[in-house]
Amino acid sequence: EVVEAHGQVLLPGFVDLHTHLREPGREDTETIATGSAAAALGGYTAVFAMANTDPVADNAVVVEHVWRRGREVGLVDVHPVGAVTVGLRGEKLAELGTMAAAGVRVFSDDGHCVHDPLLMRRALEYSTALDAVVAQHAEEPRLTVGAQAHEGERAARLGLAGWPAVAEESIVARDCLLARQTGARLHVCHVSTAGTAEILRWAKGQGIEVSAEVTPHHLLLDDDRLAGYDPVNKVNPPLRTAADTKVLRDALAEGVVDCVATDHAPHAAQDKDCEWSAARPGMLGLQTALPVVVATMVEPGLLDWRGVARVLSERPAEIAGLPGHGRPIAVGEPATLTLVDPAARWTVRGAELASIAANTPYEGMELPGRVVTTLLRGRITAHEGMVRERE
Ligand code: DOR
Ligand code: ZN
Ligand code: ZN
Repeated sequence: EVVEAHGQVLLPGFVDLHTHLREPGREDTETIATGSAAAALGGYTAVFAMANTDPVADNAVVVEHVWRRGREVGLVDVHPVGAVTVGLRGEKLAELGTMAAAGVRVFSDDGHCVHDPLLMRRALEYSTALDAVVAQHAEEPRLTVGAQAHEGERAARLGLAGWPAVAEESIVARDCLLARQTGARLHVCHVSTAGTAEILRWAKGQGIEVSAEVTPHHLLLDDDRLAGYDPVNKVNPPLRTAADTKVLRDALAEGVVDCVATDHAPHAAQDKDCEWSAARPGMLGLQTALPVVVATMVEPGLLDWRGVARVLSERPAEIAGLPGHGRPIAVGEPATLTLVDPAARWTVRGAELASIAANTPYEGMELPGRVVTTLLRGRITAHEGMVRERE
């Protein structure tokens, strides 16, 4: 088979460090099969499936299920993330060693958050011994009680309880210091404020082993979106100010923020078509990540395509220690890569996305850049908007 690639950009396959696939537990919103299809169509060849499933991925049994289903579907490498604690908001550390033996290299408290500093310190110590990374959700829960939106002028005018920037910044600072003290590798999920970027700059300058991701939605959208009370815009951490988005774009261009991760978070229609306060936080991201990076980073001249390869593929692969992803193809090696048409523009329709859920904040928006072909170890997994099942 010949794949035409005139005028297209060749990139290493994308790696998403932060994907909610909802299996097991919420297969009405996404499964490993439908999420893998969305990933392949979005140009991804590896995704890290977050642990806040039901049951929680805090043990080897759930981890093995995710590995097995990912391999059976075969469209993208699905790597299970292990939960730091037993259960969400757990008081006890999970058996990180057992999960590491089952192949887990990223542990996370995403969707819950480890509040207890002693627990976080132990998690960092053990993960160092296991050569794993701890990805933290970056929320100090004592400062976000009842929070509904970014704490600021807009939320105040709309009567929505605030989620202050300091709820993120204080715990990122704490965990950077714990990472320094333990010598561990810390990864900060979905950085959303200018202040967090400042802390990361300081921590990296100190030689602390910290990496960080920003989501496409925190690069493009801001709290202007709150005006219509449409819960499609509700997400944790919340959409911040336009000034924050500008700082985040610059931090990503500079490498203070290492990479882009989607925080792809499918939700059922009834959990989004409701009152703001009752709605669940989160938005789809796998099929719109590349176009949003083109709109926010490439078009304004903040990143060239070399830089896109860095933030969508190389750095996430390095952070997770993934062999075979995020680098150019070696001679004689089956290709894991993504072809992008940089000139194409397309209009996003949630109903047309491969996910079961349709909660996209980009509904009706025209975005630049389209993934045309995705190859995983020499096999086409997606081509011109169609998934290719294994024969
Ligand atoms: O918006 C979010 N959605 N933030 C999280 O931390 C969890 C995620 C989810 O699981 O829906
Ligand atoms: Zn999170
Ligand atoms: Zn998440």
